[in-house]
Parts: sequence; structure tokens; C-alpha cells
Amino acid sequence: MTLKSQDNWKEEFFKRSGLLIHQFSFGVGLIIAFSFMLLLDDAIAPGAAIAAFIFIASLGIAFRYAVFGDIVLLPRFSLDSYYSQTSKNKPQSKAPKKTREPLIGEGVTGYWETKVDTKAYGSMQITLCLTQKDNEITGSVEGSLFAPMEIESGSVFDGHATWKADSSGFLSFSTSFDVRFKGDIIEGEVDFGKYGKATLSGQRSTETEVTASAPPEDRIFGTLPPEEISEELMPRLQELDLVDNCRQLAEEGWTIIKEAADPEFIARLRQAIIECSPVEGTDGSKLSGLLETDPVFAEAAINPKLMAMAEFSVGRGFLLASMVSTIREKDSAPIDLHADQAYFPEPFPAHNMMLTCCWATDEFTLENGATTVMPGTNALLRHPTEEETKTPQNMVTMDCPAGSVAIWDGRVWHANAPKTTDGQRVVLHTSYQRMVVRPNEDFSHIADQMIEEYGEPMAQLMGKLDSIAKKDFDYVEDFGTFIRTTNNAKL
Ligand SMILES: [Fe+2]
Repeated sequence: MTLKSQDNWKEEFFKRSGLLIHQFSFGVGLIIAFSFMLLLDDAIAPGAAIAAFIFIASLGIAFRYAVFGDIVLLPRFSLDSYYSQTSKNKPQSKAPKKTREPLIGEGVTGYWETKVDTKAYGSMQITLCLTQKDNEITGSVEGSLFAPMEIESGSVFDGHATWKADSSGFLSFSTSFDVRFKGDIIEGEVDFGKYGKATLSGQRSTETEVTASAPPEDRIFGTLPPEEISEELMPRLQELDLVDNCRQLAEEGWTIIKEAADPEFIARLRQAIIECSPVEGTDGSKLSGLLETDPVFAEAAINPKLMAMAEFSVGRGFLLASMVSTIREKDSAPIDLHADQAYFPEPFPAHNMMLTCCWATDEFTLENGATTVMPGTNALLRHPTEEETKTPQNMVTMDCPAGSVAIWDGRVWHANAPKTTDGQRVVLHTSYQRMVVRPNEDFSHIADQMIEEYGEPMAQLMGKLDSIAKKDFDYVEDFGTFIRTTNNAKL
């Protein structure tokens, strides 16, 4: 397993060194220039000081150009502030602005909240940030389909303004605006080039809510390899001490989290399973409807450790696939070798599609009917053959104490040992899957209620945070959600 964050240290080292040398040469240039002014003859001191400063400072500028590829005369004097604005390795702040600071300075025009009616995309809100100075207009154009665009060639005369701006976001196109100001009202036309023309109307505002949704996060190109942990997820896994579990899950297809929750929670979970289980004489399995029977099941589903493991294994934005409880008695039948991705043809995708997490409210031992697994078979990317099902090889028992969660990959071959001990073995099987896979269980009738009670993690599990299969999803108004959904598929 390799970690992305470890791959970039050389790049970061050279970038920081480049900035440091730029700063150092600037400082040395000032000191020497000052020394010349003090020590040299008055006739030559100013010229020598300026020449020395330019020469020494230029060395730093040249070095910086070699490292960064840009030419900046004055270095920043805070490494942190500079680096936080330029590093490609650090996430940029994408928090939506709630209010705008009014523009200050000569010739302020202000902010204009406008509605643009297009044929291709319907109506969209665009915020124009305009500054007028003499007959020139500068500023930016922001909106749901736009990365902020700088205004170019902007001019205004007698209330009539025109300007151009190019979008280089998800959609790349050129625009030209032709508008007229009437007091606080703005009206006009926008030409979106190949996407056609649109009418624009709006009103001036000096401080206003941003009408578009949160700006989209940067679009991700390429996909994180299956065994890697994203930079976004890594801190959470480290905090929960789950990095080694991820490594084992990726390599062997299974892992165990011990003490996944406190004993009181495990006792509540065990009791809830027993109380809602089918009557005696059945196999003790409840295959659906657990979420609405007791709050403990929702708490199990959004357990932070399971959520972090599932994000690693089945990607950001994953869904809840099913919740099933089983109560196994003495002499209950074993389960044959199989992979949980039963609905997938082979070869399986290189990325895992389904993750099974079994809450063991009783200990798992071979005698107690524990799950057994063939480590590494997740890499075979296929179901076991009929012959392999009859003769499992190198099986490992997922031994663990009560209170653990046994986790396995949807592609790894596993079975269930026969239970030979007295008493019950009570388990909750919580399965998660990739955002694009239809869940095994239908949660639609309780989704809203669950989200109201448990918030954002539950909204994700119920599939409410992505743009997939949403009736009347508005790609213009909610472009940020669309981009985040496409990014989810790559992390
Ligand atoms: Fe299974």
C-alpha cells in the first residue's frame, strides 16, 4: 500500500526551499545595499547599493523561477501564508461565502444579482461583481455553471456596458455581455458562444446572500487506485487507528475492528436483535426492516469506524446496502464458500463494490460458528467454482471477542463454520456499497425520518447527497453536487 501524501514530500521540499532562497536573497540584498550606503564614498554609494541589491535579489528571483515557474519580484515573508495559497497538495478553502463585503475604492458600481434565461440550461443565477472607473468596467462573473470568470475588455458609456469573459470550468466557453443599467436595475443579453444567447435581468445589491449553490470542489481527473487512501480520508483513519485495518483489508480481503463500540452499546444491540428476531423454529434471520425497529440499528450503521472503513473500501459517498440480523443456535447449518458480490458477473471490478461489517455481539470462534475466510481471494476477482466451493483451502477463522466488528471485502471467498456450542450467536450484518449500486434493501419509506434524526451521515447512506437517480435534479442550480458526485466515483 502506498499513500499519496507520502509521494509529494520532495515536491513540497523544493517548493518551500525555493521560496526560502527567494526570501534569503532579498534580505541579503537589502543588507549589502545598506552597508554600501554607509561604507562607500557618497558619490558611488547609491549606484553601488542599487546595483548590488538588484543583482543579489535577482539570484533569488531566478532560483524561484526555476522551481515555481513564475516571476514574482517581492517574496512573501510567511511560508505558511504563501504555501497555503499556492500548494497544489493542500485543499483550497471552498466554504461558500454567506455575505459579500461591499467593494471599496473609487468608482464602485457594486454587486448585481441577475437571472439569466438560457435555452440549453434554463434559468440560472449569476452574480456580477462590477467596478466602474471612468469608462472601464472590471470585476468578475460568478454562477452555478461558472468558475469565477474575470471580466475582460469591459467598457461602459451612458449606462450601456459590454464585456467578455471566458469560462474554463467544467464547461469551457466564451461569453460576451451586453447590458444596460437603469438605476438599480440591469437588463441585457449574454452570448454563450456555442451554447447560444440568453437574456439577463437583475438588481444591484451591495451586500447579499450568494444565490448560487456552494461553489463546486475542484474536479478530479483520474481515479485513486484501490489500495490507496485519499488525503481527505487519511486523517480520519489515523485518528481512529484504522490504517492497519485498511492495509489488511486491501491485501487479504478481511479485517477485524476490536472494541468497535462500548459494552453498553453492544448489550443494547444484542437485546434489540433478540427482541425483533422471528419466532422460534425459523433460522433466526431478519432480512429487512431493522432500521425502524430500534435506534440502535441506525447508530450501528453510522458508527464512525465503520463509516471510515467503508469510505476506504467502497468509496466516498457510499450507501447502506442492507441490515440483516442472525441468531444462530447449536447445530445450525454451515454456509458454503461464496463471495458477497453475488449479483456481480466476473471478472469483478478492481475496486471493491460491497463491504460487509458483522457486529459480533457474541464472540467469534470456530466452535461458535464464526465466519471463515480465504485470505487474498479478493484479488482473484471471480466467484469460487463449484469444485472450489466443495473443497475450501487455507481457511482462516475470524476469531474475535464480543464487541468486535468482522469486516470483509465483497470479493473475498468466505464461509460459515457449523455452530457446535450451546447458546446463541447473535450478529448484525451491516453492508455498504458503492454509490452507483442499487441497495439490496429498500429504505425509501423511512429515509426522511432517519435523516431528520441522524443527519448528514444518514443522508449519505440513504443516497440523498449525490446527484444520481434524482427526479428533476437541476444540474444548473446544483452544479456543485453534480461535480462532487462525479468526484465520489474516483475516491
Ligand atoms: Fe457472505
